[in-house]
Amino acid sequence: MPWPALFQPTNLGPLRLKNRVVMAPMENHYATDDGLVTDRLIDYYTARAAGGVGLIIVELATVDSEVGSTGPGNLTLDDDRAIPGLRLLSSAIIEHGARALIQIGHTGSLGVPHPNRSLISPSVVHANPRAGRPAAREMTVTDINHCIRRFSDATARAVAAGFDGVEIHAAHGYLITQFLSSLSNHRTDEYGGSLANRARLLLELVAAMRQSAPSGFPIVCRLSASEFAPGGIVAEETEQVSQWLEQSGIAAIHVSGGSYAGKEPVSIAPMAIARGHLLGLARRIKQCVSVPVIAVGRLGTPEDAEAAVANGMADLVALGRALIADPEFVNKARDGVTAAIVPCIACNVGCLSKGVFAPNTVMHCTTNPQVGHEARSIPPTKRRRRVLIIGGGPAGIYSAVTAASRGHSVLLCEKEPELGGQLNLAVLPPHKEELRVWQRHLLHRLATSSVEARLNTPVTAAFVRGWRPDVMVLAAGAAPQRLDILGSQHGNVHMFDAVLRGAVQPAGRVVIIGGGDVACETADFILNQRTPIDSLVVVRRGSRIAQDMEPMTRALLLRRLRRNGVNLLPSAQYNEFRDEGLLITDPDGRKMLLRADCLIVATGVVPDRTLDESLGAMGIPLQRIGDCVSPRGFYEAVAEAFAVGCEL
Ligand SMILES: Cc1cc2nc3c(=O)[nH]c(=O)nc-3n(C[C@H](O)[C@H](O)[C@H](O)COP(=O)(O)O)c2cc1C
Ligand code: SF4
Repeated sequence: MPWPALFQPTNLGPLRLKNRVVMAPMENHYATDDGLVTDRLIDYYTARAAGGVGLIIVELATVDSEVGSTGPGNLTLDDDRAIPGLRLLSSAIIEHGARALIQIGHTGSLGVPHPNRSLISPSVVHANPRAGRPAAREMTVTDINHCIRRFSDATARAVAAGFDGVEIHAAHGYLITQFLSSLSNHRTDEYGGSLANRARLLLELVAAMRQSAPSGFPIVCRLSASEFAPGGIVAEETEQVSQWLEQSGIAAIHVSGGSYAGKEPVSIAPMAIARGHLLGLARRIKQCVSVPVIAVGRLGTPEDAEAAVANGMADLVALGRALIADPEFVNKARDGVTAAIVPCIACNVGCLSKGVFAPNTVMHCTTNPQVGHEARSIPPTKRRRRVLIIGGGPAGIYSAVTAASRGHSVLLCEKEPELGGQLNLAVLPPHKEELRVWQRHLLHRLATSSVEARLNTPVTAAFVRGWRPDVMVLAAGAAPQRLDILGSQHGNVHMFDAVLRGAVQPAGRVVIIGGGDVACETADFILNQRTPIDSLVVVRRGSRIAQDMEPMTRALLLRRLRRNGVNLLPSAQYNEFRDEGLLITDPDGRKMLLRADCLIVATGVVPDRTLDESLGAMGIPLQRIGDCVSPRGFYEAVAEAFAVGCEL
C-alpha cells in the first residue's frame, strides 16, 4: 500500500471508516433553487463515493432557507419535503462504499435573505460584505431558541434521511462563528462577553441535536480554529471550545480557519497560500482533545495527506477541491497511479469566482470540465476521423486527448520546441507551483494517450494537404501584445515574456506598462529575482489594477506588491517611451515623466490569427478554441477544448 497511514481504517464514533480521506463539504448549487436534491447532485456525490473516499460530508444544508442560506441552490434541511431526495443521496453514497454525513448550518449575516426578510446575527455590528445586502439585525433570545430548534429539527431530518451523522458548520464566519467571535458578537447577555457565553449557542445546539438523534449518532463540529483577524477568534479559544465540545459528546473536530467576512482568504486558500497551511492549527487541537481531528486546507496530494496523518497532525484529512478536480483521487492514490490524478491548481476560478460565488451559476472546475456531468460519459465516435490539432497549449492538448479517447486518429502539431503554450509563461512568476503540477499532468495525459504529438512543426497549407485531415482544430494560442507608441524601439524597452524567461534582467528604476494580471505577476517575478531594484512602478490605462484576476489571488498579489514598495498607478495614459523613461498623463491630466532604466511592456496577449485565413480557406472543417479566439483564462480554454473534443 503506497500510503499506509492514509489507508489505515479508523473509527468515527460508532462508524468504521475504510480510510482517512474525508470529502470536505462543498456547496455546488446542483440542488434545485429551493434546495432539494437533484439527480445531478446525486451523480456528483456518487462519483466521489465510488472514487474511494472513506467519509463524505455533504455540503452545507441550511436550517433556515429564508434567512440562513447562501441563496438559490443551497441545499436545505428546513423542511420535511427535503427528506425523500436526501434519502436517495445518502443511500447512493453509502451503497458506493463511503460513509455519509451532512453539514448543517446557518449563514447569519452572510446570507442571502428572501425578499422582505432581514438577516440575523448576534449583533448588528457584523456588516455584510456582500454588496447590496442589508445589515443583519440583532437576534433576540427568542430568535436564538428558534435557531436551536431549527438545528435540532434539521438533525432529526438528517436521521430520517438515512445519514450516518451530521456536521455543525461553526466555521468561516457563518452564524455560529459570529457568536464565537468577539469581532461580531457584542452582546451583553448570556450569549456574549466571555468565551463561555460566546460558545453557549454552539453547546446548546449540540445538546439539542443529541436529543433529536439516536444515542451515539455522530455529530462532528467544524470550527475556524483561528479567524486570522485582529480581535477575532484565536487558537487558544478554539482549544477551550474543542474541549467543551468533547465533553458535550461531539464525535470529531474538523479544523478549518478564517472567515468569508475577513481579509485573509484562508478558508478556501488560493495557490499563493502554502499547502497544508492550516495543519498547525489541527495539531494544536489534536493535542488537547482525544476525539478524532480532521485537518483540511490545501492537502490535495497523496503525499501531503499521508504526511498529515503519518506525522500525527490529524487523524483524518479532508480534501475539498482536490475531489472536485478528480473524483477518482483516492482510488488512483491507492493504486499508486498518482501521475494520473487530475490536480486541483487552487485557482478558485471554476468552482468559486465563475462557480458558486457568481450569481445564478453552479460549480465548475478549471482542470475537470466534467464536474457536474458525472453521468455523461464521453461517447466513443461512430466514425473514426483524422483530426489535426494545431497548437500544443492546454486547449490543444485537452482537445487532442479528448478526441483520441473517443477513438479518433489525432495528430497534434506545435511549432515551438516544447508543448505548453501560455502555460509555460504562466508557471514562471512566484506562487504558481500548482500550475507546474498541472503542466506535468497534461503532458502525462498526452504521453499516455494515442495522440501523435510533433514539436517544431509549423502547420502550413502544404502540410495540411499532405496529412489530409477530416477536421482541424485551431488552438494556436496567443502572443505577447506589442505596444505601438512613440519610442517603442528604444533599447531600454522590453517585452514581459523576455523578462519571465530570464533573457532580460531588469534593475534600477523599472516601469511596467499594463496593469492586468500579466503586468502584476511580472512585477512579482522581478521582486523575487533579488536583482537590485530602486523603484518599481506598474502603470495601467484602466481604473482597476488586475481587474480580471480571481479576487482572492488578486488581493494577495496586490498586497505583496504594495508591501514591497511597488507603486501601482491606475487610470494613466502612456504617451511615449524616452531614453530617460516613460511619458505618461496622470489621472488629473498632467503630463509627467516616469524615470526608468528599464521599461517593460506587459499589456497582455493577443490572439494568434496567423493561420486563420490560410487554413479557413482549405474547405476542411475548422474549429477554433482557446486564446486564439480571444485571450481568456485556462478555465475557458479547457472548457472549450473538452466541448470540441466531445463533438468531433
Ligand atoms: C466550491 C466550494 C464550496 C464550499 N462550500 C463549503 C460548505 O458548504 N461548507 C463548508 O464548511 N466549507 C465549504 N467550502 C470549503 C471547503 O470545505 C474546504 O474547507 C476548502 O475548500 C479548503 O479545502 P481544500 O484546500 O482541500 O479545497 C467550500 C469550498 C469550495 C471550493
Ligand atoms: S476550479 Fe480551480 S480551484 Fe476549483 S477545484 Fe478546479 S482547479 Fe481547483
